[in-house]
Amino acid sequence: MPNVAGMTPDLASALLDLIEGAPGPAKSELAGITISDRPFTASDVVIGQQIFLGERRLANGGPACASCHTLGTIGGLGGGRLGPDLTQVFDRLGGRKGLGAWLSAPPTQTMQSVFRNHALQPEEILPLLAVIDDASNRGRPADSSSVAKFVLFGFGGMLVGLALLQLAWRGRFRSVRRTMVRAQVRGE
Ligand code: HEC
Repeated sequence: MPNVAGMTPDLASALLDLIEGAPGPAKSELAGITISDRPFTASDVVIGQQIFLGERRLANGGPACASCHTLGTIGGLGGGRLGPDLTQVFDRLGGRKGLGAWLSAPPTQTMQSVFRNHALQPEEILPLLAVIDDASNRGRPADSSSVAKFVLFGFGGMLVGLALLQLAWRGRFRSVRRTMVRAQVRGE
């Protein structure tokens, strides 16, 4: 080790303390997540879809992606509209590596506040990447028809509900009114 002019043991140890205490990269940047590199399988896609839809619970208790996001491949009424449609997000956020890192520590406001204390696990991120990749290959962004379907379903449901109420209450309502009318006629 070279002799440094003016270096004393005390100064050296003070310098070492300074280096140790220096702010480094945030922990989340260092916490190298290890998501397997193996090719996605069909079952990854299936599991990813179950996680996305909330049919399979997240280990740390995060909410299902579909409550805020939709994917072109999930069909039905699609998912939520609070977050962006994720059909085309795979390549835009850097493919497997980029999106994998993104999901392990989401940098955006809503995602961060939702998942900060419910971090996704590598075994969950892999199938999610698989289902999002699959959607980017064969899905089309959900169009507004799913919104129209939602409104129609809601309206239809309301009509069915009203019809059922009418059916259930018809007898009782009429008979009460009939008795009242009879009472009126008899002048009671
Ligand atoms: C509570 C609602 C909510 C839930 C649940 C949610 N997200 Fe998000 N997500 C958002 C919002 C809102 C944004 C837009 C950026 C922001 O504000 O964080 C977003 C952004 C994203 C983006 C970036 C999209 C882009 O176009 O840049 C990805 C990827 C993403 N979410 C993936 C997921 C995955 C995967 C899940 C499930 C594990 C999930 N999100 C669950 C609300 C949610």
